[in-house]
Amino acid sequence: MGEDPPNPSPEEKSILFKPMIDRRSFLKGMAGVFGVSLVGVGKGYSNTDKNEILLERVPVTIPNLPAAFRGFKIAQLSDLHSSPLVSIDHLQASANLAARENPDLVVLTGDFIGHKIRTFLAKYHEFDRQYVDNIVEAFSVLKPPHGIFAVLGNHDFWSGPEATQYITDTFSKGLGVNWLRNRRVELQRGSDRIQLIGVDDLWEKTFSLRKAYQNVDPERTRILLSHNPEVNEEFQWNSGLSAELILSGHTHGGQVVLPFIGPPFLPGIRNKKFIGGLVEEEGRQTYITRGVGHLVVPLRLNCPPEVTLIELI
Ligand SMILES: [Fe+2]
Repeated sequence: MGEDPPNPSPEEKSILFKPMIDRRSFLKGMAGVFGVSLVGVGKGYSNTDKNEILLERVPVTIPNLPAAFRGFKIAQLSDLHSSPLVSIDHLQASANLAARENPDLVVLTGDFIGHKIRTFLAKYHEFDRQYVDNIVEAFSVLKPPHGIFAVLGNHDFWSGPEATQYITDTFSKGLGVNWLRNRRVELQRGSDRIQLIGVDDLWEKTFSLRKAYQNVDPERTRILLSHNPEVNEEFQWNSGLSAELILSGHTHGGQVVLPFIGPPFLPGIRNKKFIGGLVEEEGRQTYITRGVGHLVVPLRLNCPPEVTLIELI
């Protein structure tokens, strides 16, 4: 008789069971958006104008929040998808909305650009450094006292290592962005501290919740940045780890939301609970923003772009 195989580690379980999606599956889904969008654009419906960006104020109650952090304001900007479809003016409008609120902290939750898509009609989202430079120029108005922290999204990784390197280097140099690639930091106010944790995108091999939580104190407030909200499923393989608040994007709120039907396409989200807004899962609150930009087509339908202002209470 041979020995029983060893139990898989949390990281191995995560790779075996998490909902993977590749670029091809993503494109098939986008075909649905194309169909709906052609009708929508034809009829003149579109929520993509920079004047339609909404500032969503989201108060979040955190039971173990230290007193010095009550009223702490976090501006979240996500899914910028800087490209020919998302102009520097649009990015500037989103940054101005956030800056006007004087946030204590700014977080960027991934998908800064789109990845290259070729169809029989055209090529979309081919990587160009200009799109990254546009974000840096537009976001230069953001100077929060606790800094800017960021994680990468699936489209950033799908654009290849040269693109991700350029994004991380340029943002660090131009905006002072601190990258949370499977690591945590502490934020301090007076003698009170909370923890800010960040992970690489859920669909990447480099994603590691274990690594990110290496030095996390479970007694102290934990805010996790994860581009994909379905990071929630990963906690089942990682007992003992959790977060009081998770900040995510990725879904664009569906981007196209049909009356009575809802979004016809969701990029790899299995659990519709995680389409958007503030949701609760086993004691963890997750906020999923609709994001600033849009992908592939210049259309959002019943789903305006968003800048989020989280207030901890
Ligand atoms: Fe996105």
